[in-house]
Amino acid sequence: MKAGRLAAISFVLSMVASLALVAVYFVGESTPLEGTLLALALGGLGLGIVVWAKSLMSAPEVTEEHEALSSGPEARDRTKAMVQDDEVTRRTLLVRLVAGAGTTLAAALAIPALSLGPRPGQTLFGTKWTSGARLVDRNNDPIRPEDLPIEGVVTVFPEGFVGSSDSQTVLVRVAPDLLEPVEGRQDWSPQGCIGYSKICTHAGCPIGLYRAEAHQLLCPCHQSTFDVLQGAEPVFGPAARPLPQLPLDLDDDGYLVARSDYLEPVGPSFWNMTGGE
Ligand code: FES
Repeated sequence: MKAGRLAAISFVLSMVASLALVAVYFVGESTPLEGTLLALALGGLGLGIVVWAKSLMSAPEVTEEHEALSSGPEARDRTKAMVQDDEVTRRTLLVRLVAGAGTTLAAALAIPALSLGPRPGQTLFGTKWTSGARLVDRNNDPIRPEDLPIEGVVTVFPEGFVGSSDSQTVLVRVAPDLLEPVEGRQDWSPQGCIGYSKICTHAGCPIGLYRAEAHQLLCPCHQSTFDVLQGAEPVFGPAARPLPQLPLDLDDDGYLVARSDYLEPVGPSFWNMTGGE
């Protein structure tokens, strides 16, 4: 098969595979099929370029001895025009095919950007906690301080948002006289009930353990340890900042409620970083 024809077939194959890849993306996900089509699209384009380049470069000069041949000037001009026309047509076709294959492949590769979804905007800087929102457990039951024994611990959510991942809060009850509240937070822990974000400030794992004898919350991922009595300051491990504290109060019925949302973003501390860091 001639090199030009093989290159053209490769480019067409690449285009068809790219278009099929776009179609498969929209029709339904099939990762093995998408992988196969992507391989065909890339492979076809690459093979076509290589074959075409080789055909352009490998043009050895060969001299064949023969007797003098002669044609009339008219026959020579006609033959020359035919060769030139053919060359221009073939080259134009290949240029168009390689451009088409490149464009369709670029379109196919750009499609996954549609899966990124909307930008998060400011949603990562707040949670579902609002002023007056009752603290409820996983069963949606509101909680009074006396429901929790001293050194007891429970995961709580704002009422109406059980399971909200960014709002999950670990509620611990300690003897009030042990607390050493951060300045300005003296009234955030009624009857020794103190709430911290359950999302580790290192890499976002859920805080999973409470060591009552040391009054420490532990993250199981990399062992970051936070001092419950002192504003959840990290005392061990890679976490660089305290767990955000939820301001708590009691409503008229004696149930625990939030005074407001967290005053700082929950989760990994990269929220505080600027673009240059
Ligand atoms: S995610 Fe908690 S210590 Fe790394």
